[in-house]
Amino acid sequence: MAKKLSNPIDIILAIGCYTLRNKFKGGYHMDIKNFENLLEGRASHRKFLSDPVPTEDIRKLIDCARLAPSGHNLQPWKFVAVKNNELITRMAEALEANLQSIYPLLSEDEVKKLESYKFFIKHFQSAPVVIVVLAREYEYISSKLESKYNLDLLKPQLFNMTLMGIGGAVNNLLLAAQAMGYGSCWMTEPVVYGQEVIEKILGVEEPYKFVSLIAIGKPTKARKGQEKKTVDEVLTILE
Ligand SMILES: Cc1cc2nc3c(=O)[nH]c(=O)nc-3n(C[C@H](O)[C@H](O)[C@H](O)COP(=O)(O)O)c2cc1C
Repeated sequence: MAKKLSNPIDIILAIGCYTLRNKFKGGYHMDIKNFENLLEGRASHRKFLSDPVPTEDIRKLIDCARLAPSGHNLQPWKFVAVKNNELITRMAEALEANLQSIYPLLSEDEVKKLESYKFFIKHFQSAPVVIVVLAREYEYISSKLESKYNLDLLKPQLFNMTLMGIGGAVNNLLLAAQAMGYGSCWMTEPVVYGQEVIEKILGVEEPYKFVSLIAIGKPTKARKGQEKKTVDEVLTILE
């Protein structure tokens, strides 16, 4: 039979235990339909209003990102939220300069194609805040063995593992942004065209690397996400 609690200390302890038990059991459940609505409502936004994103909202986004799972729970991420418009412009200008530097190597047609693709590399310049995602290689038994014995077998997968963890954190952040009424776009083209120069502009230091950028802001208009493959197209069940 349950013990009757009359002592305030016992009551506080009982509430604490109940809360902890629920937390550690993964006790929070959400209606899956609400969750699906959130997922279906997310789309990449590439044009934003100039309304600033308050620091407390940025903190909330990162609060959600940091809860993601990661290999060995090593949480290999750092986030730099750039609100300073001059810095954002400098980053976009650096990408422009890098693009211009490769144009002489390309055919006229390729330059034309890259020029019309440029928007997808630089559109973050219209966002009131960009979140620069940094990652560091894991340090755990396998990476230590790899560097000690220069094991080619392990090398290619080590940074992949880091990046998979980053993907989880970024996706948490995108969904949190959606839940808070912000539009977002996850971008890696700025990394492809300007990893080093952007690291330099932001003063990123080893062992961290710039691996993703997320543009955030109030969207100029509602957007429907891109068509997705159906469950049948992507799922194989082996029984
Ligand atoms: C890893 C990754 C990198 C991406 N990089 C860029 C990018 O550099 N520029 C861009 O405009 N969109 C980028 N996107 C957004 C995709 O183009 C977008 O997610 C995709 O077209 C599906 O559209 P949706 O997000 O609206 O569903 C990226 C998305 C992912 C997941």
